[in-house]
Amino acid sequence: MAEHTMRQQILEQFLADPEVILSGEDLSQRLGISRAAVWKHIRQLRTLGYQIDAVPSRGYRLTTQADLLLPAAVQSGLETISIGHRVEYFAETDSTNLRAMELAEQGAQEGTVVIADCQNGGRGRMGRRWSSPAGVNLYTSIILRPDMAPIQAAQLTFLSAVATARAFEAVAGIEVQVKWPNDILVNGCKIAGLLNELSAETEGVHHVVLGIGANLNMSREQFPDDLRRPATSVLLETGQTVSRVAFAQELYRQLDRLYPLYQQQGFVPIRLAWEALFYLQGHKVEVDCGADVFTGMVAGLADDGALLLDLEQGGQQVIYAGDVSVAD
Ligand code: BTN
Repeated sequence: MAEHTMRQQILEQFLADPEVILSGEDLSQRLGISRAAVWKHIRQLRTLGYQIDAVPSRGYRLTTQADLLLPAAVQSGLETISIGHRVEYFAETDSTNLRAMELAEQGAQEGTVVIADCQNGGRGRMGRRWSSPAGVNLYTSIILRPDMAPIQAAQLTFLSAVATARAFEAVAGIEVQVKWPNDILVNGCKIAGLLNELSAETEGVHHVVLGIGANLNMSREQFPDDLRRPATSVLLETGQTVSRVAFAQELYRQLDRLYPLYQQQGFVPIRLAWEALFYLQGHKVEVDCGADVFTGMVAGLADDGALLLDLEQGGQQVIYAGDVSVAD
């Protein structure tokens, strides 16, 4: 079994009952590993930031530490209608989107959220990797079960972009902008990315997973050297750290407000909120779609989330996927 899976299992023994004290013997029996191995994993968990106290002659206790995204901390005072009623936490996993898709297949209710402290296979758009070091950022995926046609599902990307933008403003006090289709930027540098995944048939959507990665307290050295585009974090922008728990809570509250609004009033209020944050609205851009590159003025969003481009040579191009860059 992978080392991180065993650490996760140890953590789960504690998370199942926040008051529990477990001896080395208890853990070794429950997990089928030696006491020496238990001790090694406890030590590793401590280096990852988990405060695991030794209680004399009784065992170990997990003390919920400030700013670990543990379910109890995230749910405390959350007061949402549906988002975050169930929180699945992973100290380390490959991708929260993959975990959320699995949970959704198993019937997890709408609003279930998955959080990882660290991802070893974080997924970005177009098959790219999403850098996901431990202890600094938010990596989360939210399960929704909207009653909609698959073609409408792209609208939810804009909903999660607006929620993420508002969380940055409310918790970190920074004004962000959005870039079509799914980037959150500050001064032209990417501070968050969104990756929605869908399970659907022609008749309708089974479930959607909103994947959100927000760079919060990541230092310059923690960014990979080979990033194609400049990236940033709250720490780099403001010089100050931000509470990951407060950010996650605000994000879930925003989603909890915007999702019912979308269900009641449709895409229009979401589109307007998104366009107000869209820094390329009315600007000349170049869109690289792989096979084709289009140049034109951004006219806005279509109802299916496509980008509308008024082409230089006349006519309008509807763009479903591509990389946008400023051309004026
Ligand atoms: C992008 O801009 O390319 C999208 C990045 C999305 C990253 C988030 S982190 C949480 C969730 N789990 C993943 O594997 N990816 C998304």
